[in-house]
Amino acid sequence: MRENNNGGPHVLVTGGAGFIGSHVCKLLADEGYCPVTLDNLSSGHQRFVQWGPFLHGNICSANDLDHVFHHYNPVAVFHLAADIEVGNSVENPDPHYRNNMVGMLELLSTMRRWKVDKLVFASTCAVYGSPETQPIREDEPLAPASPYGHGKAMCERLIEDFASAYGLRAANLRFFNASGASPEIGLGEARRHETHLIPLALDAVLAAETFTVNGNDYDTHDGTCVRDYLHVEDIALAHFQALKALDRCERGTAALYNLSTGQGYSVLDVLKAIERVTGQPVSWRVGPRRPGDVARLVGDASLATRDLNWQPARSSIDSIVGSAWEWRRHYHGKLWSEASFTISRSPA
Ligand SMILES: NC(=O)c1ccc[n+]([C@@H]2O[C@H](COP(=O)([O-])OP(=O)(O)OC[C@H]3O[C@@H](n4cnc5c(N)ncnc54)[C@H](O)[C@@H]3O)[C@@H](O)[C@H]2O)c1
Repeated sequence: MRENNNGGPHVLVTGGAGFIGSHVCKLLADEGYCPVTLDNLSSGHQRFVQWGPFLHGNICSANDLDHVFHHYNPVAVFHLAADIEVGNSVENPDPHYRNNMVGMLELLSTMRRWKVDKLVFASTCAVYGSPETQPIREDEPLAPASPYGHGKAMCERLIEDFASAYGLRAANLRFFNASGASPEIGLGEARRHETHLIPLALDAVLAAETFTVNGNDYDTHDGTCVRDYLHVEDIALAHFQALKALDRCERGTAALYNLSTGQGYSVLDVLKAIERVTGQPVSWRVGPRRPGDVARLVGDASLATRDLNWQPARSSIDSIVGSAWEWRRHYHGKLWSEASFTISRSPA
């Protein structure tokens, strides 16, 4: 355990060593909270935990969770820890569901035992599947296309049931595609097994390799998948705004909010943005579709704007690509090569 306490009220951030969780911790610390990270480092990095205590532990372990609640008495929980690989969830659903579902249930039970009643949950647009009507609103029926999406929808259901039975106050944030980085504080997207478009394409540019586009026969303007990209700092801001909203709302509330820009970019649009921002050509070829991918996901975030006073101010595609490019050029290689950097493959 590493102590680094700024004296503010403790909040638990599960997955705080990950890409989005570390940004959430930074913002919470800026706002006077002391973020406590619980993370098993299955894909996160201990060096991303800079703004509060770190516990190397597993959300699926009631003991690890009890330890955190006993030691820190958090006033609220931000739940971001999860396996996030859609393709892997299709190929190997057993460990995927075990991690994300057991973790969710253990966390909710622990919150109940310790009488902590505020939860912000990192859900996803993958709960929608591939709806006809776009931009997608929160009242769209759920039809996930992968175990990842099904698992997140089931987590939302658990949260809703705990809210109505036990008075939990929760905000389920269904965010669309997170990307971008914060090079000035050394945070960015860094997974051993990367599956996301922008980091993969930037790595291809840095290595002067050919990037593989996963399918070009989707029903979109150029045949490649269309997504709604959000800057990670905008997502962190929504987490903080959601906490403030929970302070105002009644017990037993489980609100749902899309986090999105309403603007869709195809894979080829993103590759063009990368060429524009980096000034370098992107070499690409077309490969097969990836399991679990859907053609188009663009969201309507009017509810988050109205209730959370949230705007994705940093989420222009050039700002997202530009910050990710800066971070990758200056930090990403070092993160992997420095001897002091270790990653644990086994849960604590
Ligand atoms: N990246 C996106 O585009 C996106 C979009 C929608 C939703 N989300 C959700 O946001 C959250 C964070 O995603 P991210 O992109 O930062 O991913 P990430 O892989 O960088 O972070 C996830 C973190 O959770 C940790 N973790 C996983 N299982 C754990 C366990 N059992 N116990 C403790 N820690 C565990 C990992 O080590 C990692 O640090 C996830 O819940 C994800 O489903 C992400």
